[in-house]
Amino acid sequence: MNNMAIGVFDSGVGGLSCVKELLHCLPNEDIKYLGDTLKMPYGMKTVEELHLLAKNDVEFLKRRGVKLIAAACGTISSNVPKEHLENLNVPFVDVINPTVNAALNQSKTKRIGIIATPATVKSDCMGQRIKSIDSSAQVISIGCADFVPLIEAGHIDDDLIRNCAEKYLSQIKSFNVDTLILGCTHYPIISKVIGEIMGSEVALIDSGKETALEVKRVLEQMHLLTENSSNGTSKFYVTSNTENFDNVAKIFFEKSVNVKSILMDIKE
Ligand code: DGL
Repeated sequence: MNNMAIGVFDSGVGGLSCVKELLHCLPNEDIKYLGDTLKMPYGMKTVEELHLLAKNDVEFLKRRGVKLIAAACGTISSNVPKEHLENLNVPFVDVINPTVNAALNQSKTKRIGIIATPATVKSDCMGQRIKSIDSSAQVISIGCADFVPLIEAGHIDDDLIRNCAEKYLSQIKSFNVDTLILGCTHYPIISKVIGEIMGSEVALIDSGKETALEVKRVLEQMHLLTENSSNGTSKFYVTSNTENFDNVAKIFFEKSVNVKSILMDIKE
């Protein structure tokens, strides 16, 4: 048993897709969330920059006292191996394994699409992981550079995001996938639009949700669940102003969240 909070980080609002499921599957746990909105989008950064950002995000959460850290960010997960995070000292969960496993379990035809940030697609981490588990799988990956800035600005269900999604998804559609990985945790926030374009016969894999379910499995296995029997509290920190985060959180959670802006010194 451990009553400390679960730490979750992302570049911005994307990790809310993980928090949404955590609130559902582990309602009594406290959550401390960092959205590094000042440095977003992570998906356009170099591998070296991502290593530094991950280190700073992890240190921020550790300073606040957490029992586990979830990198609810496909870009960090695919570019910064856990072994490169020094002095971690807490269990660490990332997006890759739970998301890839969910996709392989779901897919019948083993024709799998991945949409993610350019940095995630460049790493080919998810594609390689899929192939290492099932060498017969056919994978198509598309980097969607414009999604994150649009989602952060609150374009969740309008013509702008729909036109953008149509552009990115056309190649995936002609590849005839039966399963599409939303490999950036921001994308489940626009899953309605993506689902409408892909059609109901294509299963969407929510990387944020799968990460949350992995957090639950790890806490259970390690006997680290809270003893609290009442609802936990969630604290959200962002590194720029709170306005955009608050707007998207309101749409996605259908209620306002307790978000605080911090001045964090992330050196580049
Ligand atoms: N939500 C993150 C991811 O899963 C980061 C996106 C970004 O900042 O570009 O990749």
